[in-house]
Amino acid sequence: MPFRDNTTLAQYLLAESRKNPDIGTDLVALILDASRACKLISKLVAQGALANVLGKAEGVNVQGEEQAKLDVMSDDTFRRSTEFGGHVCAVASEEQDDPVPVPQEYPRGDFLLLYDPLDGSSNIDVNVSVGSIFSVLRMPRPGEEPAIEDFLQPGTRQVAAGYAIYGPSTMLVLTVGNGVAGFTLHPLIGDFVLTHSNITVPEQTKEFAVNASNSRFWEPPVKRYVEECMAGTEGPRGKDFNMRWIASMVAEAHRILMRGGVFMYPRDTKKPLRPGRLRLMYEANPIAFIMEQAGGLASTGTERILEVTPTDLHQRIPLIFGSREEVERIEAYHRDGAIPKADTPLFNTRGLFRAAL
Ligand code: F6P
Repeated sequence: MPFRDNTTLAQYLLAESRKNPDIGTDLVALILDASRACKLISKLVAQGALANVLGKAEGVNVQGEEQAKLDVMSDDTFRRSTEFGGHVCAVASEEQDDPVPVPQEYPRGDFLLLYDPLDGSSNIDVNVSVGSIFSVLRMPRPGEEPAIEDFLQPGTRQVAAGYAIYGPSTMLVLTVGNGVAGFTLHPLIGDFVLTHSNITVPEQTKEFAVNASNSRFWEPPVKRYVEECMAGTEGPRGKDFNMRWIASMVAEAHRILMRGGVFMYPRDTKKPLRPGRLRLMYEANPIAFIMEQAGGLASTGTERILEVTPTDLHQRIPLIFGSREEVERIEAYHRDGAIPKADTPLFNTRGLFRAAL
């Protein structure tokens, strides 16, 4: 394997902090702690059955979902890797009922860290890509005892967000509010090395990702969008689309960042009390921050994800993100069935597609 003497994650972050005084050394150190958690989880994931990490754990999480062993181990790894450094005052995890304040034996910092330690955990046992997602907020009441309310800030207040994908290679994709950068874990030196600078989402796409088995529960605007894609060259879009579904949001987000596309886990009527599948604080907000920083969009269909005011730490939300033009189109269908201006002349609301409205 050729040795790449490229910028490391630490060098990248220090360079960013020299450009922007809001990115202090505390934030740099916190992100490096989070990246260390990702390296450790990557090792666990890679060993699989050899390290006896596959299969279910005994508990269920706060959402009533069965936890996989790796969910529990990754959660523990994230907390332990980030509580010691003195940069956070509390963490909130998808796997924990309540926020966990940093124990008194360690100094507390001014950041709040939120994470989904292992996204896509239904894929662990079948050896398909999974990932970790994190989001960093400032503690609104520095020095005070952290409470749930401190975490309930809209996504626009995030100071950093990132994900690690444990795929054929392990990558960390990050934003500190100045574009999106991708780092590949170098197995020889154990560092995340900058391999993808200034990642941008292509504006147009021929690929969409959705769990189509839920189609009978979708709302009309989403039905319309998907039916138009499926109609291919003969339909109003005038081109053939591909459909992808990995059931690991991190992996879908990564594919979309690399080659465009749109991801939808829309509101549906399958579970009427549940407005969406994905969690606002651990999944939608960090991915939305990354998408917007890469020139894409993220929406509920009717609202920009980053402007949603959270009401609950474990709140679920409809999530649509990816290539700008596609997300705008889906939002337009939600608004009033309007057709975005930049449309092709082929588009019109013919009978077949109007039927889905
Ligand atoms: O939130 C968890 C998650 O596993 C996502 O990573 C993924 O997109 C989705 O749920 C998969 O949902 P389904 O099981 O409906 O395909």
